[in-house]
Amino acid sequence: MKKLIDTAVLRRLFAYTKPYKKTVLGVSLLTIILAVLSPVVPVLFQQAIDKPVFHGDVTTLSYYMMAILGIITLQAVLQYTYSYYSNALGQSVIRDMRKHLFEHLTYLNVKYFDNTPIGTLITRVISDLETIADVFEAGLLMIISDLLKLTVILGIMFYSSWQLTLIAMSVLPFLLLAGWFFKEGTKKSFQEVRTQVAQLNTFLQEHVTGMYVVQIFNREQEEYERFREINTKHQNAHIRSVFYYSVFFPVVEIISAIAIGLIIWYGSKEIVKEHFTFGLIVAFVMYVGQLFQPIRNLADRFNTLQMGIVSGQRIFDVLETQQTTQNIGNVTFTGLQDSVEFKEVWFAYKNEDWVLKGISFKVKKGETIALVGSTGAGKSSVINLLNRFYDIQKGDILIDGHSIKEYELHSLRNKMSLVLQDVFLYSDTIFENIRLYDTSITLEQVIQTTKSIGIHDFIMNLPGGYNYNVQERGATLSTGQRQLISFARAMVRNPEILILDEATASIDTESEQLIQQAIEKMMHNRTCFMIAHRLSTIQHAHHILVLEKGQIIEQGTHESLLEKQGKYYHLNALQYKNAL
Ligand SMILES: Nc1ncnc2c1ncn2[C@@H]1O[C@H](COP(=O)(O)OP(=O)(O)OP(=O)(O)O)[C@@H](O)[C@H]1O
Ligand SMILES: [Mg+2]
Repeated sequence: MKKLIDTAVLRRLFAYTKPYKKTVLGVSLLTIILAVLSPVVPVLFQQAIDKPVFHGDVTTLSYYMMAILGIITLQAVLQYTYSYYSNALGQSVIRDMRKHLFEHLTYLNVKYFDNTPIGTLITRVISDLETIADVFEAGLLMIISDLLKLTVILGIMFYSSWQLTLIAMSVLPFLLLAGWFFKEGTKKSFQEVRTQVAQLNTFLQEHVTGMYVVQIFNREQEEYERFREINTKHQNAHIRSVFYYSVFFPVVEIISAIAIGLIIWYGSKEIVKEHFTFGLIVAFVMYVGQLFQPIRNLADRFNTLQMGIVSGQRIFDVLETQQTTQNIGNVTFTGLQDSVEFKEVWFAYKNEDWVLKGISFKVKKGETIALVGSTGAGKSSVINLLNRFYDIQKGDILIDGHSIKEYELHSLRNKMSLVLQDVFLYSDTIFENIRLYDTSITLEQVIQTTKSIGIHDFIMNLPGGYNYNVQERGATLSTGQRQLISFARAMVRNPEILILDEATASIDTESEQLIQQAIEKMMHNRTCFMIAHRLSTIQHAHHILVLEKGQIIEQGTHESLLEKQGKYYHLNALQYKNAL
């Protein structure tokens, strides 16, 4: 059987309140005080009516009234303080959890992100955490506070008159039944709302990113229809959840009116018999109001708590994901001394779908090795292994004779720079995109780098130069321009090993020439792994590997491979023909 409340998750959530012990203590204290204070006003009313009002004692009555006013004011102030601090507590907790979650995400490996939709992670970091804030603001503490209030009021009621209490409680089964229907109904509809919100998010995110696809293929009308459908579903889900509220609350009102009616009916008969006082009946009418409010809220709060626990579970699942790149090596990589060697490397992204099948080659310090081959041959996969984006299944990759796993991961990555096929830019200035918020890198250093690879003038020609804001993912730049910026990003760290995954060959433009020259300058006196689609780029490489379906089918220098008249020769002839 499923547990009503998963206390393990709840305990873990509450572990996050540890730094805020004082707030928790204060809020708990206020909960108790507020609960104890709740029957005071009815009791005072009861006494005021039974004593001064009955005896026409105006002076004493005014004391009572002042006391009542004082208590109500005190309650309002305490209530305010309670809300403020419980909300502050909720927000502090989710701020900490969010930090923790993001930090954890930054340690997960590429494989995890390959298999996790962006939308899911955004939902975890944003909306799931909001639900958890609710647990602290309207969930657990409020439930405790409501239960306390109920106990105190019921205690006072029994103490004052057990007959009237039993009468008030005679409607309780109906109330509980209504509460149960409400709880089940809203729970379902809330889940539905959240599913619809997620769908709306995903749809919007994908369509804003890929709006040009919509427009170029004239899909506006169809996509609009699809959006309308999702939007309507979202609306309906919300309306269904509102429905339960709009039925439940009036039902509670009716039930409580019936309870009050019963009390007055029975009570007035007893007043006539002088068993009860008038004040007692007034107090009981007030108690009923106070009793039903927490009962009404409980159903709602219970949902809040359960939803928070579901979200908590999801977040803890992410936090428990141990898909990190194992970093247990203790050799610090200070720089390449001799060579990098692939020894019978077998690699698959999934199970045994081998993408690389027994790759072996060796690169000496300072040499350039180039990888060519048709699309999907496994070129990018080879270089993804070097900085351990993925770990291999069989064989070994040796750097200066040590397996790459023996190196401390950060020291290894520190000395390698990678230029990927798709350049990712942040919506910030060119300067920040080059130094990646590393404040130890100054503008002078950046300029020195860009000058050394011949792209300083290109950057200066952009509006604002290094302060040019590239906006959303560099949308305002051409592919070639983005590639140039990523070169600067790679070179400013003065890498020992440069890994370059060239973007697909495109026509000769000004930036193409710049790219060509920059690459030549970058390769100079450096160990380089190059994937080139333009074979002209790699003519001077020391060693060229031709990959086909995860295997090396040819290798050698440009000249020797041409002589061989094999695959490389054909690729070359094809490009040469196209260039004409
Ligand atoms: N992240 C991934 N998860 C699963 N399979 C992948 C992943 N990346 C690539 N593959 C698969 O691995 C194979 C080799 O891909 P790879 O990216 O290495 O090719 P490539 O030679 O770089 O091609 P291109 O010239 O188009 O860049 C392909 O069949 C591809 O489907
Ligand atoms: Mg590739």
